[in-house]
Amino acid sequence: MKLLVTGGAGYVGSVVAAQLVEEGHEVTVLDDLSTGHEDAVPDGARFVRGSITDAGGVLRDGVDAVLHFAARSLVGESVEKPGLYWSHNLGGTLALLEAMRQAGVGRIVFSSTAATYGEPERTPIQETDPTRPGNPYGASKLAVDTALTAFAGLYGLAAVSLRYFNVAGAYGRYRERHAVETHLIPNVLKVALGERESVSVFGTDYPTPDGTCVRDYIHVADLARAHLLALDACAEGVHRIYNLGSGSGFSVKEVLDVCREVTGHPIPAEVGPRRPGDPAVLVASSEKIKRELGWKPDHTALHTIVADAWAGCQKPESERGL
Ligand code: UFG
Repeated sequence: MKLLVTGGAGYVGSVVAAQLVEEGHEVTVLDDLSTGHEDAVPDGARFVRGSITDAGGVLRDGVDAVLHFAARSLVGESVEKPGLYWSHNLGGTLALLEAMRQAGVGRIVFSSTAATYGEPERTPIQETDPTRPGNPYGASKLAVDTALTAFAGLYGLAAVSLRYFNVAGAYGRYRERHAVETHLIPNVLKVALGERESVSVFGTDYPTPDGTCVRDYIHVADLARAHLLALDACAEGVHRIYNLGSGSGFSVKEVLDVCREVTGHPIPAEVGPRRPGDPAVLVASSEKIKRELGWKPDHTALHTIVADAWAGCQKPESERGL
């Protein structure tokens, strides 16, 4: 298929683009490089530097489907700059959807998030659970999900939204490289790499077994494969929503211990205050995507996820290929 991957120079987008190229698809990556890296675009994909608000040209090139990752994705930044999130994530996506409609492109796989649910009433979280996002990032992604449902009903758009929980790990040289790193595993590994003195544990007084927050870590390679299944499952006039996690929770302390084991570094940690807006426990039920699309995670062991992230961040930036 001829596919457009927006945000394909970013972490998840580049892994999906790489897997699509491996499967023999013709891939164009559209990325403005505001947070992505050109050298993360996989060999074999065409790269167009540009905004999703100006995608008409590439879409008219005979594209069969869009995989849409381009977005602002920092919860904290979204609280400080909500306008940025509404304009990039919702405004940008509406412009993309309109351009798709005009170009006759009727299929989209959208990168949504667990942040659409907000503080859960129960875990594991199911797709039918209430969506009450606690920040503009989650709210802007939820608004896109709502728009996709409307576009499916009105214009016959074939859409799948994938709601990611905590994505981690690496796929060969494709790894997490954020200019501002807020995520736990890359920050912990920075200590082992000697780029940080210590890591801060945000709160030890949560109602969890060891007092630290529990999250559901999903390997980026497993997450990426779900996009390929979603692409095949897109059906005209239907918008499907699926959670994506591994189904088990690990606390911040457990993550730290596994990182120490994998790296052999003592990784000093300090206890800091809670980070505003962090729910105590976020664990996904991914039963729906398993049942309906036959998805199954291959790398559920936290040790494997961390080991792959660790191997990925030791590869030279310039290395090409897997
Ligand atoms: N944490 C620390 N120290 C750090 C970084 C994180 O203790 O230096 C803790 C956080 O407080 C949290 C856990 O580690 O309890 C995981 O934090 P991350 O920032 O790695 O991930 P989040 O769970 O906050 O965020 C993830 C996705 C978001 C998504 C959110 C849904 O990365 O995109 O889940 O709530 F919005």
